[in-house]
Amino acid sequence: MRFLVISDIHGNWDALDTVLAAAATEAVDHVVVLGDLVGYGASPNEVVSTVADLAPRRHMIRGNHDKVVAGIDDGEGFNSVALEAAQWTVERLTEDHLEYVRRLAQGPTEIAPGFVICHGSPFDEDQYVLALDEAEEIFRFHTAQMTFFGHTHVPMLFAADSERVSGTALEGDALMIEVDPDKQYLINPGSVGQPRDRDPRAAYLIYDTEDGRIIWRRQEYPVERAQRRILDAGLPEVLAYRLAAGL
Ligand SMILES: [Fe+2]
Repeated sequence: MRFLVISDIHGNWDALDTVLAAAATEAVDHVVVLGDLVGYGASPNEVVSTVADLAPRRHMIRGNHDKVVAGIDDGEGFNSVALEAAQWTVERLTEDHLEYVRRLAQGPTEIAPGFVICHGSPFDEDQYVLALDEAEEIFRFHTAQMTFFGHTHVPMLFAADSERVSGTALEGDALMIEVDPDKQYLINPGSVGQPRDRDPRAAYLIYDTEDGRIIWRRQEYPVERAQRRILDAGLPEVLAYRLAAGL
């Protein structure tokens, strides 16, 4: 079985469309979306309808921005730019799409035995997992072999065996690991719509459960088009500029 794993689309339809077109050549059986469909970008309706139509099989959970747009969270922890973008998104989403966002499931979700998806961490959908000690803490209590998470917008790999936990941020395209059945993994595909690792290319990964391989990929997309939409929409300008910088 081949899984396309994507996260943090953030209303960036230009990036999502490019990633889905690139992944179409990869014979994917399932699409996994780790949350934050909306917020920041200027195409929330296009993103929601594209995700809702994803074929063939789809597994999805909500992110913290989805939660604020849905009115489930008041966005108290958001900075003013994130809050303004969330409010803009609420006002632009069609009623059907708003309802779709409201109904997104809260993670974590086990989509196959030992195969878990979450937005932040398996214990807190709002937690940013970037440091080794944070991963160590999760591995201490979390037993799934394979867990995919998003939220930080940085492609990452944490692995644990009986002796130690290792972790690293991943740079570049086509990085591959062979899954060791004796290890536990916490894996972040990076962000489709707002990468924050100084690489503006959209990030995603392919997990092949048959050959036991995970490949992280980066894909160029028309950043200027996404930026233009943000500026034309009257969203905060910083949301356009950061896309070109990968910040
Ligand atoms: Fe996000």
